[in-house]
Amino acid sequence: MKATAAEASLGVFDSGVGGLTVVQAITELLPNERVIYLGDTARVPYGNKSPDTVKRFARQDAAFLLGRGVKAIVVACNTATAFALPSLVADISVPVIGVLAPGVETALARTKSGRIGLIGTAGTIGSEAYQKAIRALRPDAHLVARATPLLVPLVEEDWLQHAVTRQVLEEYVRPMLSEGIDTLVLACTHYPLLKPLLAEIAGPDVALVDSATTCAAHLQRCLDMAGLAAPPATSGGIEIFLTDRPAHFESMARRFLKSPIHRIEVVSLPE
Ligand code: DGL
Repeated sequence: MKATAAEASLGVFDSGVGGLTVVQAITELLPNERVIYLGDTARVPYGNKSPDTVKRFARQDAAFLLGRGVKAIVVACNTATAFALPSLVADISVPVIGVLAPGVETALARTKSGRIGLIGTAGTIGSEAYQKAIRALRPDAHLVARATPLLVPLVEEDWLQHAVTRQVLEEYVRPMLSEGIDTLVLACTHYPLLKPLLAEIAGPDVALVDSATTCAAHLQRCLDMAGLAAPPATSGGIEIFLTDRPAHFESMARRFLKSPIHRIEVVSLPE
């Protein structure tokens, strides 16, 4: 019997392991979906690379997933979303969704004062993509944006509750809190793992918006609208492709992803 488009897998890519926080959120919300994940671990990080380089990498990542017959693509990397999403959406025939719009939507729904903090990689913050998207919907928003490049290595080191991480977060976030933000957007796929510590530092009056859960909810709406949601009888699963196999990949991946992985393979990307 011929497989329908709805039965095809979802494609998800990121610069490395961080996008697995998005996969985790997707599998929790949509357990029938099969996910093919590409982590460009040979070229991570994207967060400090130029826009043209990130765009080229993102095109190659998407081409790999399309080659595997995916029905939709999730750009589970804030830096790639910030630089490359519009060109991917324009060039690719299947639905492509990024992490920016869902995060912005949720932040605007949560904020009361319109004073919104934003943390992410140097690339994401420097691109101004979030700032423009927020101002387009709420021109009077008061934005306090800060690149926080030390956080990705701390998360990868599993220092999620470490005193050094607390100190770094305080250094980054305290000045934002002094500006009276009531919402903080975690515009990087690694940052959901820092939520417990961030919640302690920011306190109960600041809403923490992470792109993983909001992106999964956005994907669900998008699949439903396109008639692409997996049929209820389909059993989900996760296949992981990497461009390099980092030491301790499994233990690092388990930090980001609790669901079982059915396959891990190292691949080369099409030029
Ligand atoms: N995945 C990236 C992001 O969400 C963080 C890691 C990197 O710099 O590549 O921006």
